[in-house]
Amino acid sequence: MESLFTETHIGNMTLKNRFIRSATWENMATESGHMTDKLYAIYDQLAKGEIGLIVTGYANIIEEEQPNPGMMGMYNDSFVGGYKKLTELVHINDTKIVMQLAYGGTKTTYNVGDRIIYAPSDVCERGTQTLGKAMTKDDIDYITHAFAQASRRAKESGFDGIEIHAAHSYLINQFLSPYYNRRQDEYGGSLDNRMKFLLDIYTEIRKVVGKDYPILVKLTASEFFDGGLTFSETRIICKKLEAIGVDGIVISGNIHGKANSMIGQCFDGYEIQQEGYFHEYGRVISDDVDLPIITVGGLSDINVIEDIADKTNIRCFAISRPLLAEPHLIKRWKEGNRASADCIQCSKCRTRRGNFCVVQNKR
Ligand SMILES: Cc1cc2nc3c(=O)[nH]c(=O)nc-3n(C[C@H](O)[C@H](O)[C@H](O)COP(=O)(O)O)c2cc1C
Repeated sequence: MESLFTETHIGNMTLKNRFIRSATWENMATESGHMTDKLYAIYDQLAKGEIGLIVTGYANIIEEEQPNPGMMGMYNDSFVGGYKKLTELVHINDTKIVMQLAYGGTKTTYNVGDRIIYAPSDVCERGTQTLGKAMTKDDIDYITHAFAQASRRAKESGFDGIEIHAAHSYLINQFLSPYYNRRQDEYGGSLDNRMKFLLDIYTEIRKVVGKDYPILVKLTASEFFDGGLTFSETRIICKKLEAIGVDGIVISGNIHGKANSMIGQCFDGYEIQQEGYFHEYGRVISDDVDLPIITVGGLSDINVIEDIADKTNIRCFAISRPLLAEPHLIKRWKEGNRASADCIQCSKCRTRRGNFCVVQNKR
C-alpha cells in the first residue's frame, strides 16, 4: 500500500503528500479583493498543517464581476505584490499553492442589478433565479482573454499553477450544461460545441503561461438533475482535457450543502457515497484517463481515504470544510491521531464575518 504521505506529482509540481486544501472562498479579502492579515494567517496555518497543496479561494478575473464579497481578486497587476508574499509564506513550509480562477455568473444574488452578469443563454440559475446576459462572441473573447491575463499574473506571483473553476453552476459549467446552454452558435448544441468555451480558455491560458505550467480544471461529475450535464458527458470532457494537455482534474459535484440527503442516489449507474460523495465518479474517470484525478466532497475518515487510494487510481484527496474546523487535520493524521475530522458537515461555515467553522471556532 502506497502511503498517503508519500510524494506525488501533478504536472511538474511535486507534492509532499496526496492531500489538497480544496478551493475555499474565505470572505476575508478587502473590498477590492486584496490580501489581508487574516488571509495571510489562514494560509500560513494551512501550510504549517502539512497539507501538500493549497488551492486558493476562487479569484475573480475581471473587476466588475464579483460573485461574492471578500473574495480574492486577480483582475489587474496590482495583486502581484501581495500574492508574492502569500506564495513565499506557503513555500517556506514546503507546501504548494495554486490559484483558482473563476467567472461566477448567475449563481449569485450579490449586487445583482448593479452589474452585467454573463451567462451562455437567457436561462435563470435554478437556485438563485438570477438571469444573466447571453454572451456575444466579443463577450466570450473578453472573458477568455481575462482568464489568460489572470493566469499570467498567477505565474508572476509565484503560484505553482492555476485551477480553472468549471464546476458548481458557475459560468464555464453553464456552458457545458445542456440545461443552461441553449445557444445556436458554435458554443452551443453538441457536447463538442458546449466544451468550446472551456477549451478556448485553456488554450489562451496555455499560450500565456507556457507548456510546463500546471493547469488544473475543476468539474462537476454530473449536474444531478434531469436535462443537466450527465456523468457520461463529463467522462468525454475529461478525455478531451487529457488530450489537450490539462495537468489534473478535480471531480466535484455542487451538492455539498445537501449531499447528506442525496447519499445512495444513483446517477448514470454510480451512487453518491456517504464518505467521499463523488469518489465512485472519480474512480471511473481515473480509469478512463491517464492524468491525476482528484476527488473532493465529504472526505473525513483517513481509513476510508486510504481504502479509496488503494482500490482506485484516484491520485489526490481534496478537503474543504474539515480544514475550516481543523486547519492542522493532515498534520494530526500524519502524527498518528487518526480520529475522523471534527467537521460535522453542517455547512454553516459561510458567515457575514467571514467563512469559518462556527461549531469549532467561536469567533
Ligand atoms: C465556505 C466554503 C467556500 C467554498 N469556496 C469554494 C471556492 O471558492 N471554489 C470552489 O471551487 N469550491 C468552493 N467550495 C466548495 C469546496 O471546495 C468543496 O468542493 C466542498 O465544500 C466539498 O468538500 P468538503 O466536503 O471537503 O467540504 C467552498 C465550500 C465552502 C464550505
